[in-house]
Amino acid sequence: MTSVDILRTPDELARAERHTAHNYHPLPVVITEGEGAWVTDVDGRRYLDFLAGYSALNFGHRHPGLIAAAHAQLDRITLTSRAFVHDQFAEFCRSLAALCGKELVLPMNTGAEAVETAIKVSRKWGYQVKGVADGRAEIIVAADNFHGRTTTIVSFSTDPDAKADFGPYTPGFIVVPYGDEVALREAITPNTVAVLLEPIQGEAGVLVPPAGYFAAVRALCDEHNVLMVADEIQSGLGRTGRTFAIEHEGVVPDMYVLGKALGGGIVPVSAVAADRDVLGVLKPGEHGSTFGGNPLACAVGTEVVRLLATGDFQRRSAELGEHLHARLNALIGHGVVAVRGRGLWAGVDIDPALLTGRQAVERLAERGVLAKDTHGSTIRLAPPLVVTREEIDHAVDQLAAILS
Ligand SMILES: Cc1ncc(COP(=O)(O)O)c(C=O)c1O
Repeated sequence: MTSVDILRTPDELARAERHTAHNYHPLPVVITEGEGAWVTDVDGRRYLDFLAGYSALNFGHRHPGLIAAAHAQLDRITLTSRAFVHDQFAEFCRSLAALCGKELVLPMNTGAEAVETAIKVSRKWGYQVKGVADGRAEIIVAADNFHGRTTTIVSFSTDPDAKADFGPYTPGFIVVPYGDEVALREAITPNTVAVLLEPIQGEAGVLVPPAGYFAAVRALCDEHNVLMVADEIQSGLGRTGRTFAIEHEGVVPDMYVLGKALGGGIVPVSAVAADRDVLGVLKPGEHGSTFGGNPLACAVGTEVVRLLATGDFQRRSAELGEHLHARLNALIGHGVVAVRGRGLWAGVDIDPALLTGRQAVERLAERGVLAKDTHGSTIRLAPPLVVTREEIDHAVDQLAAILS
């Protein structure tokens, strides 16, 4: 073996293993470069990225417009804190609010921070506007939710891996089955301030609720003066063929929670968007983040909003999503048990007699396609929205091959 034949991957994996907490179980792929829907590993192997950073890379790796916006901002100013105003802030907030059809936004960094923001705003709204007695606010969430990893958020997780041994837990959350309108109706009390839901549950396996569910949620929230909060962190910003997944249901929530793709795959950018009667409850000193709404984040975020405002990515996701789902549905009965999802987002249940989800994504990686398992034999496919029809065909062909 010559020196050029020595692979770097095993050494990089061993070094990473030695110096990190084991809070992830990554596939044994060490990525060094990416462009569009493709990444390259340290040994020169190329992979189609069908996870896209759990939708953080909706615009693909290193989208030229986003990279240019980041470069330009890196050369000017990157951080001020919110103690001062900077010249990228107003346009980001204006354009994002317009995209959401809301009056105000509040920028943060990670998705979990945006969810925490939504929880705090909902509680404060409950006390100050709805008139709930102090300390009694309740927020209704769904079983099998995934909203992040903070101690408050895992307090209402139903996933033992996410929750066990992290107590004591934050009270004030009621869990109901996802998609069950009757259970939701029965859970609402005079102390309910918000219903927090994912329009499609990603982590749970790309679960799409029954048609009409969100219209019923909206009606119940209106009837009982409860805020409807849509966590669109993974489902939003073009992923399902619309700007927001909840649009498929013809419903407008009181608050959007956004993250992931808002940072263009470059920086963590999250936000909540709502009207003044909701977000206006916050006063100086009550909430914030040193990095939230920083100049680099705003410059990239503004470009993300500009890309979405064209509608091109949503259209692409809708059209190519139909193709992806048609190809995947054709595998039902050939190693696939069920396919769910919308647009360029699919949860695929592999026949458990054939492979676990983990085995499936390992075999796909060997064939140059990166995807992620969820629970049991389910895998998730979420390519960047810049993926081509041929690339989709290639990835689905690899899936078919590992199932044959
Ligand atoms: C629906 C949803 N909400 C919240 C989060 C948490 O986002 P972050 O990992 O940026 O904190 C995620 C992340 O996967 C998510 O999918």
